[in-house]
Amino acid sequence: MKQLHKQSTSTRKEEEIPISQTPPYSPKSLKHPRSLPRSLNYILKEQRLLFILVGILIGSTFFIIQPSLSALSSSDSRPRISAQNRELAVTTVRNPFGDGRNYNKYSNGVGRVPVGIGAKRKRIVVTGGAGFVGSHLVDKLIAMGDDVIVIDNFFTGRKENVVHLFGNPRFELIRHDVVEPILLEVDQIYHLACPASPVHYKYNPVKTIKTNVMGTLNMLGLAKRIGARFLLTSTSEVYGDPLEHPQKETYWGHVNPIGVRSCYDEGKRTAETLTMDYHRGDGVEVRIARIFNTYGPRMCLDDGRVVSNFVAQAIRGQPMTIYGDGKQTRSFQYVSDLVDGLVALMEGEHVGPFNLGNPGEFTMLQLAEVVKETIDPSATIEFKPNTADDPHKRKPDITKAKELLNWEPNISLKEGLPRMVNDFRNRILNEDEGKGNK
Ligand SMILES: NC(=O)c1ccc[n+]([C@@H]2O[C@H](COP(=O)([O-])OP(=O)(O)OC[C@H]3O[C@@H](n4cnc5c(N)ncnc54)[C@H](O)[C@@H]3O)[C@@H](O)[C@H]2O)c1
Repeated sequence: MKQLHKQSTSTRKEEEIPISQTPPYSPKSLKHPRSLPRSLNYILKEQRLLFILVGILIGSTFFIIQPSLSALSSSDSRPRISAQNRELAVTTVRNPFGDGRNYNKYSNGVGRVPVGIGAKRKRIVVTGGAGFVGSHLVDKLIAMGDDVIVIDNFFTGRKENVVHLFGNPRFELIRHDVVEPILLEVDQIYHLACPASPVHYKYNPVKTIKTNVMGTLNMLGLAKRIGARFLLTSTSEVYGDPLEHPQKETYWGHVNPIGVRSCYDEGKRTAETLTMDYHRGDGVEVRIARIFNTYGPRMCLDDGRVVSNFVAQAIRGQPMTIYGDGKQTRSFQYVSDLVDGLVALMEGEHVGPFNLGNPGEFTMLQLAEVVKETIDPSATIEFKPNTADDPHKRKPDITKAKELLNWEPNISLKEGLPRMVNDFRNRILNEDEGKGNK
């Protein structure tokens, strides 16, 4: 009995389980106390889990590989994307030059822009944009709907060339010397900053070569840093006094490396070298234009270039100066043709170099005749000794630009000259302008 009593006490103790630990009543849990929830059970049966895992693996592999494939498929050109969208779209891909380094490359986010939202307009820098060619290029880019930032130190450029754009919210002007670095966020860089006429580039030759080397380095460095496309305006002067006529892009030139023009000729050749090395070595998207003689409104008065010289002299009633015998030839391109070519090159898929010029060839004497016809039939000619290293012949072969850029000039000298003459007449009438270019 005693024992029985003891037993019954211990059983009561075991039965004293706290209410909170008592599992809730469930017929299932009574039946299979350790079984998993029904959905988990379903997944684990018939290798369903395996199928799910394989599906996830295939899906994620596709999304990892797809951007690299699309980047590789566009080997020549980097897909462009507006500066504003960059932070969202930047991806790192293997560089196409096989040097083992990785470069930030902008993924082609264009396809992800939702329907109904227009493409973002491009932001573009034009160095030397207050100069003759630069200001016409800026006009075209603004007319195309882009945002344009001009960088210029006003050495040969003038505010008057861009004053009509002041107040336009898509235009900005920065007084800056490209010899110093600058940091901006843009999609494209047109690099024009450099004095172009002999009078100006010979004025301070060391500064000219510094502008060509340091200035180009700074702009290429900027392009590399921000992933912008870079276009260099080189020159037909890289052919020097050519032994090949007309000049093709494959011709390496005949340049005096120690002459008075070398600061410009060799400066531009070095700028081309830098451009190609940034392209090959760092994957920067580049374009190279070799510009032949160009004329049009807004050229500097009295800058020593033959067309502006003849026109200004004929308007002022002075004799037109011909250096040498006047039999040396040049080809003359109207500025709007050049600007069309520069934009076609920038927007196209080819690095270049491309000759951009008008293949129509004129001797200096023939040019003087056209100027006489256009301005004053009684204008006279004065001969002076030729300058050092003046090329005897210059005529572009533009087959490459015709084929690959679908570009060719279409304004003849007789059409273009009167447009320039109107601008020069107005400026020469203005006393201040007639004396300088500031
Ligand atoms: N016009 C032509 O016939 C011709 C021919 C061949 C090549 N190019 C090239 O085209 C480009 C433009 O020529 P352009 O005829 O308009 O000459 P330009 O002298 O009218 O324009 C050059 C511009 O660059 C600016 N500039 C010069 N040095 C600078 C510097 N260190 N920092 C910032 N700005 C600077 C000048 O102030 C000017 O606005 C030049 O690179 C030139 O070499 C022109």
